Amino acid sequence: MEKSIVVLPGDGIGPEIMDSAIQVLDAIGKAFHHQFHYNEQLIGGAAIDQVNLPLPEETIEAAKKADAVLLGAVGGPKWDQNPSDKRPEKGLLQIRKALDLYANLRPVKGFKPLLNASPLKEEVIQGSDLVIVRELTGGLYFGEPSERKPDGSVIDSLTYTREEIERIVRKGFETAQLRKKKLTSVDKANVLESSKLWREIVESLKADYPDVEVEHVLVDAAAMKLITNPRQFDCIVTENMFGDILSDEASVLTGSLGMLPSASLAENGVGLFEPAHGSAPDIAGLGIANPIAMIMSAAMMLRHSFNMQDEADAIENAVEASILEGLHTADLNVTNGTKVSTHEMTEAILSKLTQ
Ligand code: NAD
Ligand code: IPM
Ligand code: MN
Repeated sequence: MEKSIVVLPGDGIGPEIMDSAIQVLDAIGKAFHHQFHYNEQLIGGAAIDQVNLPLPEETIEAAKKADAVLLGAVGGPKWDQNPSDKRPEKGLLQIRKALDLYANLRPVKGFKPLLNASPLKEEVIQGSDLVIVRELTGGLYFGEPSERKPDGSVIDSLTYTREEIERIVRKGFETAQLRKKKLTSVDKANVLESSKLWREIVESLKADYPDVEVEHVLVDAAAMKLITNPRQFDCIVTENMFGDILSDEASVLTGSLGMLPSASLAENGVGLFEPAHGSAPDIAGLGIANPIAMIMSAAMMLRHSFNMQDEADAIENAVEASILEGLHTADLNVTNGTKVSTHEMTEAILSKLTQ
């Protein structure tokens, strides 16, 4: 098959881990006789530096025409003092909105040799395997007004339409149906109007998915349960900001934020695939970033956008095999094994792909 991929390396470690993902995709292309065409475009701080906008129109146009979009990460201290519309993060929010990427799937599954890298007890985290289905184009991130008022006070707005909630809740049910058929809807229905509607909608839709067991958990309790008894979760569906926070927390189950891939999906249009982590300015340029979240995001692209299941399996197996050999980057504080660079980790994964 021939596929065109818009590549958005972004900032910080973004370009470093994107290099790794492209090498892996090239190896897959060779092994399975596909042609991947890459079209690199600007986003984030890199775009601000070059064209003074976090998301140039050209990037949106290219993304809309592509078969899929791969994104590294955006942001960094250089742009932290910029006004809101000239911040790298704005570019990310804008592309999510422009492509209507309402569903962000963040799978969280640890690899056995890395479990001791987590500060959590191994017996608590082993066997945990969950996915967070995060609403990505609504809620506090996009509500209007969001501003500083003349009197110095501030306002952010949390808004959701019924349709916006329905489609992400359905995505949650459908995701659960493909897994262990348990859906945990996370909200703050004891306080927020938006969460009350959310809970009503989950209740009203559950008859359409009789094979799925549903529970409601308040977000504060969910944050606690996620790290005290993570095996109770299969699929978590939640609104934008709760999902943002819970997914970084959940990454602790795997040993590092550098292990968490994600897929941002639209109802019909193009999908965007990005690690859950950020641009890691503290380690950018050192060649030590963990490329696995990015590489696994590329695998999710093959699975979700190109229906290339064997190819995605091949990547995931190669990653697992490298980890089983004891290799890990510096972000994983494991007690044994071999600490390697981004380049060495990528080489190890590539060598498993071509075996
Ligand atoms: P971060 O995710 O960039 O980093 C948090 C910590 O995890 C850092 O210590 C970092 O070194 C480490 N880390 C993250 N990914 C890693 C990897 N692949 N390998 C090794 N270590 C890794 O979060 P932050 O420091 O809070 O934010 C930094 C910048 O990234 C900010 O500008 C923020 O807005 C942006 N950000 C962007 C995205 C995105 O592009 N999707 C996501 C989150 C944060
Ligand atoms: C993420 C990031 C983004 C978010 C930021 C950079 C806007 O934290 O993708 O998780 O909050 O969605
Ligand atoms: Mn986040």
